[in-house]
Amino acid sequence: MEIKRKQYADLERLLFTEEEIRSAVQTLGARISADYEDKEPLLICVLKGACVFFSDLIRAIDTPVSIDFIAASSYGGGTRPQHEVILKHEPSQSVKGRDVILVEDIMDTGNTLLCLKRFFEETGAASVRIAALLDKPSRRCVPLQPDYSCFTIPDAFVVGYGLDYDEQYRSLPEIGILSPTVWDK
Ligand code: IMP
Repeated sequence: MEIKRKQYADLERLLFTEEEIRSAVQTLGARISADYEDKEPLLICVLKGACVFFSDLIRAIDTPVSIDFIAASSYGGGTRPQHEVILKHEPSQSVKGRDVILVEDIMDTGNTLLCLKRFFEETGAASVRIAALLDKPSRRCVPLQPDYSCFTIPDAFVVGYGLDYDEQYRSLPEIGILSPTVWDK
């Protein structure tokens, strides 16, 4: 408990409570259920940041879904993205002819999701949409928007509900802005 209390002390402020997140994920699940009523989309979780959002989202969708996992990386432990995207873990099933929904924690510059979207289009997916828990549009540097997102946030480094800084804070149930004193060290 002491560790978690320290993690809260590292936050500049809370952005979204557990209840606000739950409600936004339920609303998004209902939207995806309606959009994919007669289909069986393949939801692909982009590890690790999206894991908490993903597990809540798939349970908020009424229609049958398949799931898979990939890992991509464009971060080296800091708060600013590098441009190279590396696929560290590929999906375990073919995406050929599938309606893919890439589930990501946050769309920041957009580099990661643009690379992943192109990868799955080139691999033969029937369609590729993006569901990002958070959208940080002020830092976008590629022409891409999420098809679905729960919250739009300002240009700040956020943690919690799966999102990390240096592998910390993922298990916080809320989302908050990390104090610059933590990443400025
Ligand atoms: P991109 O800049 O859109 O390619 O984002 C790449 C990745 O950076 C995201 O998937 C996140 O894992 C990470 N990221 C971007 N902004 C934040 C943030 O505010 N908090 C935690 N991770 C972030």
